[in-house]
Amino acid sequence: MFRERTVSELRDRLREWRKAGERIALVPTMGNLHAGHMALVTRARELARRVVVTIFVNPTQFGPGEDYSSYPRTLDRDAAMLERAGADLLFIPAVEEIYPSGLSDGTVVEVPVVSDGLCGAARPRHFRGVATVVAKLFNCVQPDVALFGEKDYQQLLVIRKMVRDLLVPLEIVAVPTVREPDGLALSSRNAYLTPEQRERAPLLYRTLVEGRERIRAGERDYAELESWARRELEGAGFQPDYWEVRAAADLGVPGEGERRLAILGAACLGRARLIDNILFDL
Ligand code: PAJ
Repeated sequence: MFRERTVSELRDRLREWRKAGERIALVPTMGNLHAGHMALVTRARELARRVVVTIFVNPTQFGPGEDYSSYPRTLDRDAAMLERAGADLLFIPAVEEIYPSGLSDGTVVEVPVVSDGLCGAARPRHFRGVATVVAKLFNCVQPDVALFGEKDYQQLLVIRKMVRDLLVPLEIVAVPTVREPDGLALSSRNAYLTPEQRERAPLLYRTLVEGRERIRAGERDYAELESWARRELEGAGFQPDYWEVRAAADLGVPGEGERRLAILGAACLGRARLIDNILFDL
C-alpha cells in the first residue's frame, strides 16, 4: 500500500493508474478505523481495481467545543488494517494541504435544505464542512466511485445532492450500517462510553426498531411516537437530541402516501454523541 501526504504526490501516483485504464474507488474517513469503515473498503475492492482511502480529521466539520482535538488518531493501527484489507493507497494530508487559504477564508460548499434539520440543526456548520472537504477529496482523487456509510444517512444525502448539483462525474455507493451483536452501530465515538454506558447504548437502536415495527403495525401519529422514544431514552440516562420519522428520499416530512421511510435518532450518552437510523419500506 502506498502512503502519500501531499496532493501532488497523490496525483502522480493516480496518473499511472488512470493511464493504465484502472477504475479507482475512494473511501473518505477520519481514521480510527473499525469494521464499519472496513466494510466500505471491502465493497470498494469489489467495485474498482484500485482503492484509495483517505484519513483526514477535518477541522471545519467540528463545531467550537466539539471533539476535534481529542478525536482518536490511530494512524499506525489504521494503516495496518488497510494494508491487510488490500487498499492500494492511503492519503493522509496535513490541514494546510487541504485548506490552502486557511480555515476561515477558503471557498466553501453549501448544500441547502437537506443539511438543515436533524444533525444540521444541532451542529450548524457541520455539513458545510463535510461537503467542502469531500468536494476537495473528490478533486484530489477524481475517483470513478466513492463509498459512504448509511450510518451517517443525512451526510450520505448531502453528498449525493452535492454531486448531482455540482455535476461531479462519479458514482456514490451506500454501504449498510455495520453493528455490534447487540445492535449498537459501530462508531469511533463509542470509545468515549464507559463500560456501564456501553451496556445501555444499544437502546438507541432498539427504539428505532420498535418505532419501525409500530409504524408497520399501522401507527401514524409520528409526534406521539417521537415523544415515546424520547421518554425511553431520557429514562435510560440519554440526552436525546432528535428522534424523527422522515421520508428516506430527502429527509422531508413524510406525506400520507410515503412508501420509504427513515427514522433517525441522535442522543448523548455521557461524553459520546450517538447517531443511528433505520430505513424501511411500508
Ligand atoms: P468517519 O466518521 O470516519 O466515517 C467514514 C465513513 O465510514 C462514512 O461514510 C461513514 O458513514 C462510514 N461509517 C462509519 N461507521 C459506520 C458503520 N458502523 N457502518 C457503516 N459505515 C460506517 O464520516 C466521516 O468520517 C467524515 O464526515 C468524512 C465523510 C470522512 C468527511 O470528513
